[in-house]
Formats: sequence, structure tokens, C-alpha cells
Amino acid sequence: MKLLLLGSGGREHALAWKIAQSPKIEKLFIAPGNAGTSEVGENVALKADDFAGIKDFVLREKIDMVVVGPEDPLVKGIYDFFCNDEQLKNIPVIGPSKAGAQLEGSKDFAKGFMQRHGIPTAAYQTFDGTTLEEGLSFLETLQPPYVLKADGLCAGKGVLILPTLEEAQKELKEMLGGMFGQASARVVVEEFLSGIECSVFVLTDGKNYKILPEAKDYKRIGEGDTGLNTGGMGSVSPVPFADKIWMKKVEDRIIRPTVKGLAEEGLEYKGFIFFGLINCNGDPKVIEYNCRMGDPETETVMLRIKSDLVDLLEGVAQGNLASRQLEFDERSAVCVMLVSGGYPGHYEKGKVISGIPDVQGSVVFHAGTALNADREVITAGGRVIAVSSYGKNKEEALAKSFTEAQKIQFEGKYFRRDIGADL
Ligand code: AMP
Ligand code: GLY
Repeated sequence: MKLLLLGSGGREHALAWKIAQSPKIEKLFIAPGNAGTSEVGENVALKADDFAGIKDFVLREKIDMVVVGPEDPLVKGIYDFFCNDEQLKNIPVIGPSKAGAQLEGSKDFAKGFMQRHGIPTAAYQTFDGTTLEEGLSFLETLQPPYVLKADGLCAGKGVLILPTLEEAQKELKEMLGGMFGQASARVVVEEFLSGIECSVFVLTDGKNYKILPEAKDYKRIGEGDTGLNTGGMGSVSPVPFADKIWMKKVEDRIIRPTVKGLAEEGLEYKGFIFFGLINCNGDPKVIEYNCRMGDPETETVMLRIKSDLVDLLEGVAQGNLASRQLEFDERSAVCVMLVSGGYPGHYEKGKVISGIPDVQGSVVFHAGTALNADREVITAGGRVIAVSSYGKNKEEALAKSFTEAQKIQFEGKYFRRDIGADL
């Protein structure tokens, strides 16, 4: 089979690495990819949301399946674009329809969906420019800290958690006043939940589902979970508190009602569902849905899937996922992200990266890298490289990633040394 994977980050390198191992794959293309994906497939200079360019390429290369890494093309309707095109309609796209992708594309939609299906989540109300006064009053009824969420996609920056009522009221006015443009024309105000977070992933064909290995990611830049939020500094799988009992609650109260709810509402969904969960005194609640895999969770989750991912994706496309095998690797997997100095604030790009060939026994996933004119790997983003490792437990896997991370050098390199330490 010829498969086209869309996206360019660490998640896509991890997906490409796993997909390329499948005996079913004759040729793998990644658009646009990065320096790492070019080692397991062929990069194509096309943006993931250039639908017309993707159509030309898919027809020219006789692509059999398209797998979508990031949320953007899904929220913009790439699934529907294929379904509604005479020449493309028989080529499966792994990812939800535009209507299904609202689970991520609209926080208000996601909250309403959970309410309709009795799925546990924080209490909330949604406000827009015409209901600002009600929003300010609603905040007065809540306890601090206050959680404000822009309704639309904001590249991970649309959630504000504010310690005082004054700040929350000021930010609500600013968000509704256009702080994130159209994305914050509506704002979800919700109850603050405290607990440890865990990311759970499901593959669904719209009817059946398979639960993939869970993972925990580390979002803050500083050790001890301090400082600014990032795109993710590392991840760990499995998550010790996500034991059989907890995962049964997740499946019964969250996963099954979600998949059933999508079907009942006629929201076509053949792809990954990412459940961002929080453990509130033993009870899982949904913090958010995403319509794709997580980054940097994918960089550990892929290590823990023993089965052929392409076989599972075929099951999704053909609607017979239930008949496919999903076996986990029982070892632990972790990923440590190497980032550019200054990230998530200002940082420089174009630094030459050395030492990658010296890494042994860990898997190096590229996130923000590129090749320069001399074919050297250089930094091209804030999050640069994920060093993923196996171990008989997370401690062993972490020790391995930290050792191998020392071998990779570039000016300004930084990584957190406390990934997994809280678990
Ligand atoms: P989201 O984009 O919805 O995942 O929110 C980003 C992050 O904000 C989450 O990963 C949580 O750490 C935090 N967060 C979001 N909603 C809540 C909430 N209701 N209570 C506590 N923390 C939250
Ligand atoms: N790791 C969180 C995300 O991918 O959104």
C-alpha cells in the first residue's frame, strides 16, 4: 500500500516510524515531514492543509490511504473534501469528518456533547460578546482559580487559568474583545478541577474502538512543573495510576459513551480520539478532547504498540476494526524532549545538531529539524528532538533517555531531567 501521512512534528516522525515497519507498506510519503521522517519515508513539499495540492499528489502517486497527524486539516474538513470529490471518495482518510472534529475545534461543542451524553467533565457555561455581563456574574459564583477557554483552535494557547476574580474578569473581557480573534468570540468558563492528568487514546471506525496505551505528558518548561506551558517536554507510558480499575471507569463512563454519542449524532468519525483526562480522587473526568494523537505522547505510545499499526488503520477505514489485533509491549516507554534555548519564548533556529548517529538503543524522533544546504541536520523549531527509550520500568527507560540525550549536541540545548518523577 502507498500511504501519505500529513504533518511535520515529533508525532508524525513517530507515526511514520511505526507505519514504515508494516509489511503492508510499499511506499510511505510524509507531507511536509522533517529531517527525521525523510529517513523512514519520502518527504513531499506540501503543507498539511493544502487540499488542492494534496489532491494532485494523491492522484498522481496513486495513494491508497491518507493519515492525518495534526488537527488543523481535520478541523478544516479534509475528510469531507475527500468524501465529496469524485476522484478521491474511495481513498480513506484516517481522521474524523469536519463535524466530528468539532470535539477539538470547538470547546463549547465538546462541552455540550459531554453534557448530552452524561460524560463526566467540569461544570461550565459559555459566553459571547452579547452575554459578557452574565459571564462576569457567573465568575463571581465560582471558586478560584478560574478557567477560561477560547472556543476555537489557538495552537494550544487558548486556555487561561487565573488566580483571582479580578484577573479572570479582565481576561474574559479581553478574550471576548478579540484577544484570540474569531477563536475567542465565544469563551467557555469552567470549574477548576484538581488532580493528575493522563492522556488516553482510542482508534475508532465509528462503531468499534481499540484503546491504545495511555501516556502522561509534561507541559511546563521548568522542572517540578514550573514556568510557561510548552508543546510538551516529555512523556511516559504506562501511567501507574491508570490501572485496570481506573481504565475500566474511563472505558465505561467516557470512551464508550463518546463513541456511541458520535454515532447517535451522526458525526462521522474514523480516526484517533485523544481524551485529555484528569484523575479527581479516583474518578476520571474529561479536560478536553482532541481529534488526533498527542505530541509528545505519540513518541512513547508508538513504542508500546506491538501490532501492525497499518493493519489497525485498515480496520478503521474498512469499518472492521473489531477483527484486528492490538497487542501492547509490556515494557515502559518514555520520551525526553530536547528544546532550543529560550523556548517557549524567543529562540534561534538553524543550529547544527551533532551526535545523533552516536545514540544507541534509544529511538530519536525529530520534531523541529531540517536539513541545510550541506545536508546537515539543523534546528528548525522550539521542540527539536525527542529521545524515546524502553525500559523494564520507567526509571530504567528514563535513565536510558537521559544518557542518550547527552550525546546529542546543539547550541542552547535544554531538557527536563524530572520527566516521570511525579508518578
Ligand atoms: P486544554 O487545552 O483544554 O487541554 O487545557 C490546557 C491545560 O489547562 C490542561 O491540560 C490542564 O492542565 C489545564 N486545564 C484545562 N481545564 C482545566 C480545568 N477545568 N481544571 C484544571 N485544569 C484545567
Ligand atoms: N500533549 C498534548 C497535546 O498533544 O495536545
